[in-house]
Amino acid sequence: MASSVVLASSPLPRHIGIIMDGNGRWAQRKNQLRTQGHLEGLKTAKKIVKAASDLHIQFLTLYVFSTENWKRTAEEVRFIMGLVKQYLKAELDFYRENRIRIRHAGDPGGLPRDIVRELEEACEDTRSFEGLQVILALNYGGRDAIVRAVGRWLDSLKKIEKIEKKPLEKRVPVKITEEGIRSCLDNPDIPDPDLIIRTAGEYRTSNFLLWEGAYAEYYFSETLWPDWTEADLRVAIAAYQQRERRFGGSKP
Ligand code: IPE
Ligand code: IPE
Ligand code: MG
Repeated sequence: MASSVVLASSPLPRHIGIIMDGNGRWAQRKNQLRTQGHLEGLKTAKKIVKAASDLHIQFLTLYVFSTENWKRTAEEVRFIMGLVKQYLKAELDFYRENRIRIRHAGDPGGLPRDIVRELEEACEDTRSFEGLQVILALNYGGRDAIVRAVGRWLDSLKKIEKIEKKPLEKRVPVKITEEGIRSCLDNPDIPDPDLIIRTAGEYRTSNFLLWEGAYAEYYFSETLWPDWTEADLRVAIAAYQQRERRFGGSKP
């Protein structure tokens, strides 16, 4: 049985990303509103955060709301934003007890002000915690993240131009490097994900961690997100432990 999966202590993925999909279908199958699916999905997210923390995973990125999810009805969007706000407020004691640090990936610019405020507070209040780091990908898009990184780079060049009072084109051309782009991403200190999980039987990235996920191992689960449990997480990690990662090299 899944719950009896005993995990080897290594290799444990340092960073897991989860595309938490299937909330809407879960609700529809039960003749409930999609919003009920999101409510159940939030409960699952809490369980999986605790499980990841207990397993001593270092980083967990949860895909909460994509840059494309604004296409949904205003009612659904409002409901999801409300849930996020409620979650951030209500869970502070839980983060404290478990030494969990909250972080954000995505564009705060496009989010409602009150959500940004709650996010900033949660990030600030948990900044010193040394346990699991939970990165909430909220108004997050992989392409958007790369565009914003390049924008940051350009801004820093403009600052140099201002200080040196020399137009950029008169300077030695700046070399564009992978490391340079990486250093301008939202959370450059966080290692690339080792394992990316997608639930609900969909087999696509939907714009999640495009840059960082270049060499992630993918694990797909048929189970809808609200039905996911700690046992499913253990099965996914066990599958990861069977993979041989070569990063483009050849078999040793
Ligand atoms: C994932 O579940 C949650 C978000 C994208 C916010 P969905 O709402 O996409 O559920 P399905 O895919 O419609 O079942
Ligand atoms: C991806 O799921 C986004 C999140 C889980 C937050 P979607 O349900 O939005 O993706 P598509 O539309 O099926 O690709
Ligand atoms: Mg979906």
